[in-house]
Amino acid sequence: MSADAGPTPAEASKVASPEPALAPLTIALPKGRSLKPVAKLLAQAGVVSTMSSKPLPEALADESRALVRTARFGDQPLELLLLKPDDIPTYVEYGTADLGVCGRDVLVEREVDVYQPVDLGIARCRLVVAGRVGVDVASSHTGRMPRVATKFPRTAAAHFARRGVQVEIVDVQGSVELAPLLGLADVIVDIVETGTTLAENGLEVKEEISSVSSMLVANRAAYKLRSAAVLPLLAALRAALVAPPA
Ligand code: PRP
Repeated sequence: MSADAGPTPAEASKVASPEPALAPLTIALPKGRSLKPVAKLLAQAGVVSTMSSKPLPEALADESRALVRTARFGDQPLELLLLKPDDIPTYVEYGTADLGVCGRDVLVEREVDVYQPVDLGIARCRLVVAGRVGVDVASSHTGRMPRVATKFPRTAAAHFARRGVQVEIVDVQGSVELAPLLGLADVIVDIVETGTTLAENGLEVKEEISSVSSMLVANRAAYKLRSAAVLPLLAALRAALVAPPA
């Protein structure tokens, strides 16, 4: 082609094409009581909503039922998935979400294969054995194995096995505190945050198993393949965790 014929169409498209857009990083966030502190921490780290001019915690707490929200961290676009907390490990383990926020209790119970690079220190609570106020657990189940109602069957079984106590685990999905009141179980293994649910149902902590807080988790492949996007965000989160409160 002669010098004054101009660029070929292929050359022209190369010259005209903009920088390739950054692929969004997908982060699974827990709906419910942990969402606000998580959103606050992300905002402190520099994450802003691209759907609303409001700060991230307010933008996520609006009336919308949209389960995917968009945000950005610097130039990096983010997709925020609002999920039931129990589903977050699955989304991250399968790589549907690159990152997620989820309680250590769920990670231990489900033996999830994900990186856990940052303890966010929020949604702090305790995993405990609880039973009826004033009732001696050892004497409340004469003639049979003690029954333990819980949403954490694997963790509960491991705890009692370590103690050398044989128990029958009863798997329930919610309102666990009802089980000892109605005789379904002698004790429960459950999460206690404020202690209000135990107190209002005539139960008390008999034994503490572990303390629990929310972890930032990362899909193993995404942690390596998307490190240019992931690592600066993790560094900003760590810095926000040690910064004095705004
Ligand atoms: C959790 C947990 C307790 C309650 C403890 O239940 O299973 O029931 O919170 O919180 P508190 O110590 O602040 O009272 P959740 O609210 O997740 O509902 P669920 O019973 O449906 O699991």
